Amino acid sequence: MNLFETVEKMNGIPDKYKNMSIKELEEIVRSIKQRLGRKLFIPGHHYQKDEVIQFADATGDSLKLAQLSEENIDAEFIVFCGVHFMAETADILTAPHQKVFLPDMRAGCSMADMADIYQTERAWEELTKLFGDTIIPLTYVNSTAAIKSFVGENGGATVTSSNAEEMVKWAFLQKERIVFLPDQHLGRNTAYNLGIGLDEMAVWNPIDQKLEYDGPIEKAKVILWKGHCSVHENFTVDNIQYMREHDPEMKIIVHPECRREVVALSDLAGSTSFIIQAIEHAESGTAWAIGTEMNLVKRIINNHPDKHVVSLNPHMCPCLTMNRIDLPHLAWCLESLEDGDNHNIIQVEQPVAENAKLALQRMLNLSR
Ligand code: 13P
Ligand code: SF4
Repeated sequence: MNLFETVEKMNGIPDKYKNMSIKELEEIVRSIKQRLGRKLFIPGHHYQKDEVIQFADATGDSLKLAQLSEENIDAEFIVFCGVHFMAETADILTAPHQKVFLPDMRAGCSMADMADIYQTERAWEELTKLFGDTIIPLTYVNSTAAIKSFVGENGGATVTSSNAEEMVKWAFLQKERIVFLPDQHLGRNTAYNLGIGLDEMAVWNPIDQKLEYDGPIEKAKVILWKGHCSVHENFTVDNIQYMREHDPEMKIIVHPECRREVVALSDLAGSTSFIIQAIEHAESGTAWAIGTEMNLVKRIINNHPDKHVVSLNPHMCPCLTMNRIDLPHLAWCLESLEDGDNHNIIQVEQPVAENAKLALQRMLNLSR
């Protein structure tokens, strides 16, 4: 068996789903949704494909989906159409009788993979030696449950791209310095917007296990984990310069996971919900270049034929891991759970879940 076959086998989707027509697959999903009614809840992140999002009971950015998971007490089955860390968050925030499923276990997040708990513990030890008790950890929700747990245990909180500024302000009320995981760009963009100079931001390199910083150590206020999103890093200063030259009327709006230079040259930056709302509220006839994931950009283009909307980078692809959730996996997951076959369950063990909940709750309490 070659590597591809091994991965396919581990993933386990039976061939019958791969051979079905779209109509047959849609019929499976529709009829199970009807039979299960309120026992089933399907949240869908904005980056999901249209073939999946059409069946979502609610769509949203990562903050909204976390809030909905916390509020939903009816559903016995939550089939999360998003990526692994989002399903983990849903499991942490729901009651023990509620089961969370991820239709394809390979739907991870390359950014979340850039920090593991061992690297985090090692970094904390080193940073504590350097800065003493002056640091507090903040983690983007795009991180493992183990890291959220570590952050909760050490007095910190989670953030999303919708509330990062609020959470960084909160963290500075607790301690002098913050350690921001795992996305250096969201951390840098957020701190910069709050008036912290780039010369006050250090970078923790988890591979070399050392701090990258030129200034005097006591000046560092934010320590950024050296991680990034492999999708949003593909929007470049060149893309913006091209757009400004060829279509000066075009407004540029990007996600804060883009690099600092890209955000600085854009007209607006914000979470996926912020981007959706900005285009919704824009006047008819306006022109927009968007720097975020391609499934969402395509949906915005289709929903706004009265506006001229394009991707900031014409060669962008969708987020490959988000794209792993497709109609065959959704149909397979729903049929299996209806048959009592409990695979693809996301379950965060105690006490990791308990401490991770502390970090999430600190964020949710400030984001109501
Ligand atoms: P949002 O917080 O905007 O939903 O973004 C999540 C994400 O994974 C972006 O890449
Ligand atoms: Fe992760 Fe980037 Fe995909 Fe978001 S777009 S899920 S951060 S890889």
